[in-house]
Amino acid sequence: MQAPELKTSLPGPKATAIIARDQQFVSPSYTRGYPLVMAGGDGAVIEDVDGNHFLDCAAGIAVNATGHAHPQVVEAIVDQARRYLHMSGTDFYYEPQVRLAEEIAAIAPISGPVKSFFGNSGTEAVEAAVKLAKWSTKRHNIIAFLGSFHGRTMGSLSLTASKAIQRKGFGPMAPGVYHAPYANCYRCPIGLTPENCAAECVDYVEDQILVHLVSPDEVAAIVVEPIQGEGGYVVPPAAFIERLRALTTAHGMLLVTDEVQCGMGRTGKMFAIEHFGIEPDIFATAKGIASGMPLGVCAARADVMTWPPGAHASTFGGNPVSCAAALATIDLLRRELVRNAAEVGAYLQDGVRALMEKHPLIGDVRGKGLMIGIECVRDRATKERAPEERDAVVTAAFYKGLLVLGAGKNTIRLSPPLVLTREQAATAVDILDQAFTDVEQQRIGRG
Ligand SMILES: Cc1ncc(COP(=O)(O)O)c(C=O)c1O
Repeated sequence: MQAPELKTSLPGPKATAIIARDQQFVSPSYTRGYPLVMAGGDGAVIEDVDGNHFLDCAAGIAVNATGHAHPQVVEAIVDQARRYLHMSGTDFYYEPQVRLAEEIAAIAPISGPVKSFFGNSGTEAVEAAVKLAKWSTKRHNIIAFLGSFHGRTMGSLSLTASKAIQRKGFGPMAPGVYHAPYANCYRCPIGLTPENCAAECVDYVEDQILVHLVSPDEVAAIVVEPIQGEGGYVVPPAAFIERLRALTTAHGMLLVTDEVQCGMGRTGKMFAIEHFGIEPDIFATAKGIASGMPLGVCAARADVMTWPPGAHASTFGGNPVSCAAALATIDLLRRELVRNAAEVGAYLQDGVRALMEKHPLIGDVRGKGLMIGIECVRDRATKERAPEERDAVVTAAFYKGLLVLGAGKNTIRLSPPLVLTREQAATAVDILDQAFTDVEQQRIGRG
């Protein structure tokens, strides 16, 4: 399928009718930015119900690692579905789950033996990681970071500190969670640059949280996204992650990395933490792992994952069809797609960075592989955020046939399927160029 190819005005008549039904019967809590109604997909191209083709740089929120309907993944799903759909790994054995645990141990960013717990989503993977950290250390406090997103079930939500609306009306949160600033070099609160930074934001953990609020020997874990996703695609300096590793080791805490968004090859390495050359004790992964089938994994050093039968389980977690999809996905990632994410990601990021010369609305371009953030500002000197303009660019891109999403207050995220080609990356840059031009001209028109 070629994209973009727009045949109707947007939304077309079929999409309009479906959206009207959605508004009557579906929860209004979802955050749909534009009226796309999917009918099918192929690689990095989506067809809507009216036959319009879009270039997909959203991948169902960074999920479709192998692209839409990759034949190898579909075949694995169909083959497994013909045999059996479910047998609950909680009470029974089945080989696809064992094989997947073996694969995860082989690709894990942990050098020793690794064991895996299976759930259905990112939030469940994080819940499992937090419970395991508490169980394993016999401590009950957790340190997490402002701007981070870890999920929306009550345990993960207590760690999530991305947007207040996500927490509003749901309190009180789980006790014993402390938040520290995340290392955001573009907006460093003390004016440092990555070159002269010694991750002073970790000082806040050491000198404030661990001095005034909680004793280090009562902290089970520090939970961190190696690259912040929902919070704005923020890449921290290596010193930040290195200091967190040193701090956790010094105090017998566990380092838990949330790779739900940045993992599974998206950043050009299998796991984002590999960019920093350190190892976590526990990590959570989901989204891209099964190309769109529901699966979340909490993996840990085998000597940490020693909880007894009954301590944690899930009826559906590690569903055999999802495991089959994950095995096919990991095979494709290892053989070609992690490399493609690194190569096409660098090309795409260069292309987007070049747009900075033409578009003053772009304040920062950052990321790794095919996890790229474009931060929109009204003024490069003051870095005043441009949230409305960001939304306008996302919308303008949609009407030109490119799907992207926002992240954080004023950042556009590019999280395409990892099968994206150079040609498609060039098309994405062209459309973004036009979308920024439109929005900047409207701004000038408004005075
Ligand atoms: C880093 C991170 N952790 C956890 C989650 C929660 O994943 P899920 O929506 O599958 O529960 C997300 C979702 O965006 C995420 O980006």
